[in-house]
Amino acid sequence: MKIFGLLILAYLMGSIPSGVWIGKIFFHVDIRQSGSGNIGTTNTFRVLGPVAGSIVMILDISKGTLATLLPTFFHVTTVSPLIFGLAAILGHTFSIFDGFKGGKAVATSAGMLLAYSPTLFLFAAGCWVLLILITSIVSVASMIAFTLTTIATLFYHDWLLTALALVLTVFIFYKHRSNIVRLKDGTENQVHFGLGWAL
Ligand code: G3P
Repeated sequence: MKIFGLLILAYLMGSIPSGVWIGKIFFHVDIRQSGSGNIGTTNTFRVLGPVAGSIVMILDISKGTLATLLPTFFHVTTVSPLIFGLAAILGHTFSIFDGFKGGKAVATSAGMLLAYSPTLFLFAAGCWVLLILITSIVSVASMIAFTLTTIATLFYHDWLLTALALVLTVFIFYKHRSNIVRLKDGTENQVHFGLGWAL
């Protein structure tokens, strides 16, 4: 019962659509109607600027981190913390506060990694930043960084971690299907360094 309650709590935490709420409360803008229409960090940067984008990134990462730490806080040892992180990721992507729609699972998945393995988080974040610098395209960086992180999990001999990372990578590619169409068309949004975030 305690575990079920904590899984619901993790899902509810993940469901908080920080980008939507910050946009509506502080900017009177619905980010779902602008840019890529995504509710995550990248589109918040794009539509509302770096301050709002940074806050949304911290909040979305924190959702995954706190949810993954819930079993530690409540002394639950019979279920892997990854399952609680997964509940938050499902909340983020199928949010009860956003008509069971949501984001592309990148920041909240990273937050889960931060709680479970800070080293793996640093690897994923390092790959992501490097790939953005190389490609100037956040969606490409997100998809490749998670693919590389899944491969890196093989060194941990933690098969639940590898299985979950693989499932999440496939899911992240699926959530980026509109980005993949734009990449094929040559119309995907790019980051313009030094000129701010542009469409
Ligand atoms: O984390 C989402 C990112 O990979 C792509 O965002 O807004 O360009 O679709 P966006």
